Amino acid sequence: MLVAGTDTTTITIEWAMSLLLNHPKAMHKARAEIEANVGHDRLVNESDLPNLSYLHNVINETWRLFPSIPVMPRESADDCTISGFHIPKGTMMLLNVWTIHRDEKVWENATSFIPERFERDGAEANKLFMFGGGRRTCPGAFSARRVVTLALASLIQSFEWERIGQEAVNLAEQPGLHMSMVHPLEALCKPHHAMIPTLNKLL
Ligand code: HEM
Repeated sequence: MLVAGTDTTTITIEWAMSLLLNHPKAMHKARAEIEANVGHDRLVNESDLPNLSYLHNVINETWRLFPSIPVMPRESADDCTISGFHIPKGTMMLLNVWTIHRDEKVWENATSFIPERFERDGAEANKLFMFGGGRRTCPGAFSARRVVTLALASLIQSFEWERIGQEAVNLAEQPGLHMSMVHPLEALCKPHHAMIPTLNKLL
């Protein structure tokens, strides 16, 4: 549980922050949603999460573009045929989630970061496969979503974030079991001016 739940979660937060730093309008919208629903007098907490729908869309869009586990192995239990291909029993198959999530036939502007795509049609989220499927689906999915949303909401509520320099954050992906960033995110942050009294109370 610890191994499966640690990197996957932290990687998601890092990709989401990188995408938000590259898309200031989305960062602004996520902040505005938190300010409207939580304000500045207290830290965001778990009971606020159902009211942060835009942030949920940002996280879905992050998982779509950068699934923490990009390739999932399966083995055929019996002979079968998939799309006309004969698959003998015992064949190892690799499900390429990264490619499925960027399929132009399935997603409009598949390579662009557009959290709003999940607003248009709630069913869009059903096309995501970042937690796998079937009997081996991720048992930590529910907990992961809560942890990632709460961590991101706290970071956005409490701090103002800026990229270092003018250049966009480099989104190159590291090959591997867990898809991390080739260049780990470095960014500048300072306490959000309206949050300083609340943050001071926590010291
Ligand atoms: C961003 C967060 C996470 C992602 C994207 C993720 C994704 C996945 C994926 C794709 C699988 C394989 C599913 C399959 O083969 O169909 C998996 C398995 C698993 N995950 Fe997660 N996971 C995350 C967080 C967590 C957390 C927080 C926990 C535990 C608290 C956890 C526990 C597990 C375990 C125990 C398995 C193995 C299940 C099995 O083999 O039967 N995961 N996860």
